[in-house]
Amino acid sequence: MHLLETRDLTHIYRGNVHALEGVNFVAERKSRIAVIGPNGAGKSTLFKHFNGILKPTSGEMLVRGEPITKENVREVRKFVGIVFQNPDDQIFSPTVEQDVAFGPTNLGLDEETVAHRVEEALHLLGIEELRERVPHHLSGGEKKRVAIAGILAMEPQVLVLDEPTAGLDPQGVADLVEFVNRLPEEYGMTVIFSTHHLDLVAEMADFIYVMDRGRVVGSGTVGEVFARPELLARTRLDVPPIPKLIRSLQESGVAIDTAYTYEDAKKSFLDAYARRE
Ligand SMILES: Nc1ncnc2c1ncn2[C@@H]1O[C@H](COP(=O)(O)OP(=O)(O)OP(=O)(O)O)[C@@H](O)[C@H]1O
Ligand SMILES: [Mg+2]
Repeated sequence: MHLLETRDLTHIYRGNVHALEGVNFVAERKSRIAVIGPNGAGKSTLFKHFNGILKPTSGEMLVRGEPITKENVREVRKFVGIVFQNPDDQIFSPTVEQDVAFGPTNLGLDEETVAHRVEEALHLLGIEELRERVPHHLSGGEKKRVAIAGILAMEPQVLVLDEPTAGLDPQGVADLVEFVNRLPEEYGMTVIFSTHHLDLVAEMADFIYVMDRGRVVGSGTVGEVFARPELLARTRLDVPPIPKLIRSLQESGVAIDTAYTYEDAKKSFLDAYARRE
């Protein structure tokens, strides 16, 4: 049994918009999964099926092996938390603190537990100083963090982040990467995210789904997908700079090991340097 699974999932929006066509997707415990693809590929639509915001036109959406029903949708939403692409879609309380408390309060938790979870989430996202602020007036990147904190405070087992780095400054991106990477190991969580920043994919994911026009057109480990430049080019994506540079050096006859992350690439370069004649 998979933690999340879609079987031939198809979604047709009103107006006959075929947003998903026969998508097969699985996620396991503690996995880090990136979903990449051009605008309109269906990434956000797929994510909205993961906790029953949308219903399949055909095919199946299974959470822990069970379809989402009216009876279990509350449990499913405790289990799978989604941070939307646009934070304005989920931020609406008068203060940041109240906003982050909204989800856990709705789960029926007592006041003390809610307060504790809010503190922890504000701390994890480094936004304690924003607690009294009006969410509506925050900057884009600040709103994004508040939105993530609100979902995190519900302590989902699966955290789905739709474009989490869009609008963040470089330090904000680095903080987010570090924070997200701790979740599987420290909390046993599964993280699924979409992004147009392909250089982040190797830093934040082990497995990739490539989508285009509502279909999964490729999937595999980071190494497998980035070894297929034609697949990425076909979907208006490009191999990120690190593997691209290393591949080009290899093609020029330099004996250097393949690497995808900054740290691994540094090691490859140092090894190659040490081996030089
Ligand atoms: N509520 C809706 N009603 C009708 N069509 C929709 C709706 N939401 C999305 N679509 C359409 O479904 C398709 C997939 O959209 P989706 O938002 O899932 O793509 P995406 O991969 O998340 O794109 P992006 O990278 O721009 O966020 C697009 O053609 C989009 O116009
Ligand atoms: Mg989207």
